[in-house]
Amino acid sequence: MQTQKRHLLGLDGMSGSQIQEFLDVAKHFREVLDRPIKRLPTLQGKTVVNLFYEPSTRTRISFELAEKRMSADIVNFSASTSSVKKGETLIDTVKNIEAMKIDMVVVRHSSPGAAHILSRVLDANIINAGDGGHEHPTQALLDMFTISQNFSSLKDLTVAIVGDIAHSRVAMSNIYGLKSMGARVLLCGPATLIPREIDKLGVEVYHNIDEVIPQVDVLNILRIQLERQSSGLFPSLREYHNYFGITRERLRRADRPILIMHPGPMNRGLEIASDVADSEHSVILEQVTNGVALRMAVLYLLAGGQSEIH
Ligand code: CP
Repeated sequence: MQTQKRHLLGLDGMSGSQIQEFLDVAKHFREVLDRPIKRLPTLQGKTVVNLFYEPSTRTRISFELAEKRMSADIVNFSASTSSVKKGETLIDTVKNIEAMKIDMVVVRHSSPGAAHILSRVLDANIINAGDGGHEHPTQALLDMFTISQNFSSLKDLTVAIVGDIAHSRVAMSNIYGLKSMGARVLLCGPATLIPREIDKLGVEVYHNIDEVIPQVDVLNILRIQLERQSSGLFPSLREYHNYFGITRERLRRADRPILIMHPGPMNRGLEIASDVADSEHSVILEQVTNGVALRMAVLYLLAGGQSEIH
């Protein structure tokens, strides 16, 4: 590994070559997933705690599968059935868990910065599995890995991220990562869902999806967070679909096939039409498969593995 990192907290500040290293190692593990016997001894003797304070399907299960494929011992922590319910703080909780001799912590939490705090108080390796609206680095890495499987290079590709940018940790990690890899990044959504001054990150902002579609190689479509709809950030779900929903009719106006991505969970018929989600250009389920390989790569490299795997 070029730079021995102890933690994966975010992609802000990560260089293109560091990102490429994760993608190269993930390619090796992706091949392992196609073997009849998928288990490797790589993390034998290591104990990983999956600390999920927020709901998750894809991230939680794919971390757990990645750890199992690499023969780690696993502890799954769920806040709803723990002493968090009795008022125990995050730091007290993790210090007690660390006292039981663990090596790595995968954490999802609603507070931005939760993973950073753990990295300061624990000796274990910390992996951010999503912290509030801040970052979701393994999602962006698996997104870039999926793009790299479909194009010869990320450099100079045009990728649009569509939807609720303002509340999206997936968008932030993708912006940092894609910019480091030399891609052109367009953001598209209602003005109320795009942070002011985000163009300072080197992205281009659009509010008309029909101007974006003809320019792009990849559309990464974000979930409309229905729980925020009560705050009146756009007039109605129907109006959002009419103006920003990705439909076959809209895609037909492009002069080339566009790779369709979505981090999940999807609102079919809202941000993405069902037939687009299931179309031949959709790689949404490939993203999920690749998530296991990418997370194996992250665990491997943080545990001190070398990028040259034989
Ligand atoms: N993409 C993603 O983070 O999905 P989950 O919330 O199901 O983990």
